[in-house]
Amino acid sequence: MADIINLLPENIANQIAAGEVIQRPASAVKELLENAVDAGATEIKLFVNDAGKALVQVIDNGKGMSETDARMCFERHATSKIKNIDDLFQVKTMGFRGEALASIAGVAQVELKTKKTGESVGTFIEIENSIVKSQCPVATNEGTNISMKNLFFNVPARRNFLKSNASELKHIVDEFIRVAMAFPSLFFSLTSNGQEVFHLEKGSLKQRIIQILGNNYSAKLVSVKEETDYMNIYGFVGKPETAKRTRGDQYFFVNNRFIKSAYLNHAVMNAFSDMIPRDSFPMYTLFIDIDPSRLDINVHPTKQEIKFEDEKLIYAFVQSAVKHALAQYSVTPTLDFDLDASIQQTDAVSKPFTAEKQFSATGTSLYNTFTQKNQAHFIESKSDLEKWDDNILKQNNLEHLSENRTQKTNFERDDFFSSSFKNHVQAVADKKPTSTSYLQIQKSFIIAENENGFIVIHQQNAHERILYERFTEALKGKPIAIQRSLFPAAIELAPADAVFLTELLPDLNILGYQVEPFGNNSFVVQGSPADVPDGNEKESLEKILEQYKHFNMDMRSFSKREKLLRSMAWQQSIKAGSVLSQKEMETLVEDLFNCNTNNTTPNGKPVFLEFKKDELDKMFGR
Ligand SMILES: Nc1ncnc2c1ncn2[C@@H]1O[C@H](COP(=O)(O)OP(=O)(O)OP(=O)(O)O)[C@@H](O)[C@H]1O
Ligand SMILES: [Mg+2]
Repeated sequence: MADIINLLPENIANQIAAGEVIQRPASAVKELLENAVDAGATEIKLFVNDAGKALVQVIDNGKGMSETDARMCFERHATSKIKNIDDLFQVKTMGFRGEALASIAGVAQVELKTKKTGESVGTFIEIENSIVKSQCPVATNEGTNISMKNLFFNVPARRNFLKSNASELKHIVDEFIRVAMAFPSLFFSLTSNGQEVFHLEKGSLKQRIIQILGNNYSAKLVSVKEETDYMNIYGFVGKPETAKRTRGDQYFFVNNRFIKSAYLNHAVMNAFSDMIPRDSFPMYTLFIDIDPSRLDINVHPTKQEIKFEDEKLIYAFVQSAVKHALAQYSVTPTLDFDLDASIQQTDAVSKPFTAEKQFSATGTSLYNTFTQKNQAHFIESKSDLEKWDDNILKQNNLEHLSENRTQKTNFERDDFFSSSFKNHVQAVADKKPTSTSYLQIQKSFIIAENENGFIVIHQQNAHERILYERFTEALKGKPIAIQRSLFPAAIELAPADAVFLTELLPDLNILGYQVEPFGNNSFVVQGSPADVPDGNEKESLEKILEQYKHFNMDMRSFSKREKLLRSMAWQQSIKAGSVLSQKEMETLVEDLFNCNTNNTTPNGKPVFLEFKKDELDKMFGR
C-alpha cells in the first residue's frame, strides 16, 4: 500500500500553529509589545488601524536585529532568549518560544525595518503567508519598526470570526494596558486610526496606575510591599471606598508578566472581605517577584496562566500582605496632602480598623514568618499552614468565588419566589389598583388596593421597568425630554472608559444625553434627560458607564443597546429608601400599569406581589 503520510508545507504548518498564539489583533499587539520590551527599548509606540484588523505596528528604540537575525526571527522556534531546556526554567524575558513572529508572518503581511545599535544601515524585510517577498538594506532608526497588515488575509474563515471594531479595540487596549502597567519606567503610546489614545510618560508605578486608570485613584491607593527570601510582593490596592461594581481594574503580574488567576484574585478579595460590599470589586495592581524556577509559565500558549510550585503558600502570602497593607492604612491613615476633607470623613478613613481586626490580619505566626526577611520559606509549624489552608477551603465553600456571587443571589431569589409567591405574581393588567390612595412602607414599597385584594409594589423595580420601556420607545424615535445644561460639565475618563463611552455616544444622544468628545479622553455634557437633577449629569453618566461595564461582563450575549438601556434604567430609577409623595406614587403606579410588561424588571426581578382576599381569608382560617 502506498505511503500516505505527508509533511505539511511550512506555511500551512505555521497557519495551524499560529492559531494558538494569534487569535485576534490583540494577540499580535501583546507579542510585538513584549518583543520590544525584551529588546531593551525605553520608548514603545503602538499604532493600530481598524482595531488592528488593517494594521498593528510597533516602533521601538531597542537593540534592533542584524541582517541575519532579521531573516531568522520569522522562523519557527527561532529565539535569542533561551538556548537549552534548563534556560526554560530561568526565563527572565517575556518571550522564549520563538513562535510569535513565525505565527504572525503565517497569517498576515508583515514588514520589518530594524537596525542594530551602532550600525549605519538597517534591514528591510517583507514577508507574507510565511514567504519572504523582499529583503534589502534600508535607512532607518536604531531599533525595530514592525507592521502587521491585514491579519488573516489568507485565512478568511478566521477573519470572519473577528468581532466588531469596538470589541477588538477593547481587547487591544486591555493587552496594551497589561504591558504598559508592568513597565512604568518605559514610555508607551497607543494611536488608533491616527488619534493618540494613550500617551504614558515614564514614571513610577503609582503614576502609571493613575495615567491608565484615571485621576480618581490619586490619593486612594494603598501601598502593598512585603519582602521575603521566597518571594516579594509590591504594588497598590485601591482604598475600599474605590471598589467598583465591575472587576475591570484588577491586575496581577508575576515576574512582570500579566497573569489571570482566579485563585490569587480570591486571596485579595478575601483580604478585603469585610471592608467592601459583597458584589463589588477593589482595584489592585500587584506584582509578585519569585525565582523563575519556582514556577512554570509554559502551561498555556499565551503564557497568561502559570503554575506555582507551592500555590497555597503564595495564596497565604498574597492575602496576608494585602490585609496587612489595609490594616496599616486604616489604623494610621497616611497623611496625604491631596486628600481633601470630604475623603477624610469617609468611613474607611475615619473609622479605624479595630484592634481585633488588625490582630486577625497580622497576628498569626504564619504572617510573622512572612514579614521577617530570610525566614519566609521556613515555616516552622506546618499546622499553621494547614490551618490557613482549611480556612481557605472553608471560605471557598462559603464565599463562592466572587464571579458566582451575584448569580447565586439572583438564583436564590428566583427560587424563593417560585416556591412561595409564584401564585401572587401574574402578568396581567387586571392587577391594577382600584383606588388612588397609596401607602408607602419602609420607604421602599407601595401598597395599593385592587379588585382582588392588594398589591405590594417594589418602587425601585417598578421605576426601572417604566424607564426601560420609556428608553426603548426613545430609541424607536419617541423623543425624550431634554434639559440643556446651564454650565456644561466636563468629564475626564480613564482611557479605557473613554473607549467605552465613545462607543455609546450615538445611543446616549438619542436617550437624552448630549455628550460630545473633547479630545484627550474628556467629554462635555451639553444636556441630559429632564429627569436627571441639574448638576448631576456628570455623576449619573459615570454611574451608567460603571453599570454598563458591569453588564458587559455579566450579559455578554446582549447587544450594546440592550446593555445601555438596562444600565440607564437601573441608574435613573428611584432607589429603595426614597420617600415618595402621594402624587409621585400616583404617577409611578399609573406609569407602571401603562407599561407593556409590568410585572418584572428588565432583568427579571418581580415588580409587585399580589395578595388576594380569598387567599388571605384562607390563611386566616376563614
Ligand atoms: N522588537 C525586537 N527587537 C529586537 N529583536 C527582536 C524584536 N522582536 C523580535 N526580536 C528577535 O526575534 C526573535 C523571535 O521573536 P519571537 O517573538 O518570534 O520569539 P521570542 O520572543 O523569542 O519568543 P515568543 O514566541 O515566546 O515570543 C527574538 O528572540 C528576538 O531575538
Ligand atoms: Mg516574542
